[in-house]
Amino acid sequence: MAERVVLITGAASGFGAGAAQAFAAQGARLVLCDIDEQGLIGLAETLRDSGAQVLARRIDVTDETAQSALIAATLAHFGQLDVAINNAGLGQPFTPLSKTEAKDFDRIVAVNARGVFLGMKHQIPPMQAAGSGVILNIASAAGLTGAGHLAAYAAAKHAVVGLTRAAADELARHNIRVNALCPAFAETPLFAEMADRFASHTGEDAAQSRSRITARVPMGRVATVAEVVQAMLWTCDPANSFMTGQALAIDGGLTAI
Ligand SMILES: NC(=O)c1ccc[n+]([C@@H]2O[C@H](COP(=O)([O-])OP(=O)(O)OC[C@H]3O[C@@H](n4cnc5c(N)ncnc54)[C@H](O)[C@@H]3O)[C@@H](O)[C@H]2O)c1
Repeated sequence: MAERVVLITGAASGFGAGAAQAFAAQGARLVLCDIDEQGLIGLAETLRDSGAQVLARRIDVTDETAQSALIAATLAHFGQLDVAINNAGLGQPFTPLSKTEAKDFDRIVAVNARGVFLGMKHQIPPMQAAGSGVILNIASAAGLTGAGHLAAYAAAKHAVVGLTRAAADELARHNIRVNALCPAFAETPLFAEMADRFASHTGEDAAQSRSRITARVPMGRVATVAEVVQAMLWTCDPANSFMTGQALAIDGGLTAI
């Protein structure tokens, strides 16, 4: 990864922040964006203090003008874009489909699916011009199987898998690999919020609700951020040169049963 330019959306927290640290440790130059400006500034300062080159921008991934401007800023600053990780995402309150508000559906799909579409739309041209590139989209186990009471989230994450496969087909002859990772239940703020929402939905306390979640996972636990980040590194590694169009579960066996 040395000297490669790696763009990460949703970089201020969770998998995005973990990936930023891991790619920086491998010598990558980073383009980090998030809607959370304070979190982003704090992370960028920490990474620069440890010697990394970082371009950080506050953007909302649903805003096409902002996504386009981010790529222009990347090319102006670093002159190239080698790897793009579309990771920004929003969870959803546990709600029966019949009680889900259309505006909530629209926002969840806008961030989780439209954000990935817009990201790829503007990341692809410089990669095509360079004749190579890697795109990794962070979907979810809910992009591979049904997830009751999370219909909007599951619909958005299935869309991410569909976008990934379509783009992989289009871009394989351009030497651009496009894959998706499908984690389930990893210790990030998004998961903590979803677990709390699950507890309010079932009327259990937080500990009961968490043990009910982990009991569904064959490995009997949730993932660490580091376990997901190592899969992000491996998927994007130049040595992983023949894998494209895949949606890989990192889920302790959840989708195997
Ligand atoms: N943690 C899990 O258990 C889990 C499981 C499956 C999939 N995922 C997916 O992994 C990805 C990362 O999630 P995480 O768990 O690290 O969550 P997180 O909440 O820790 O991080 C998500 C980041 O995305 C940013 N973001 C949200 N909306 C945005 C927007 N409109 N524009 C720009 N940035 C925005 C947030 O500010 C935050 O920094 C998400 O796509 C999520 O759906 C997470």
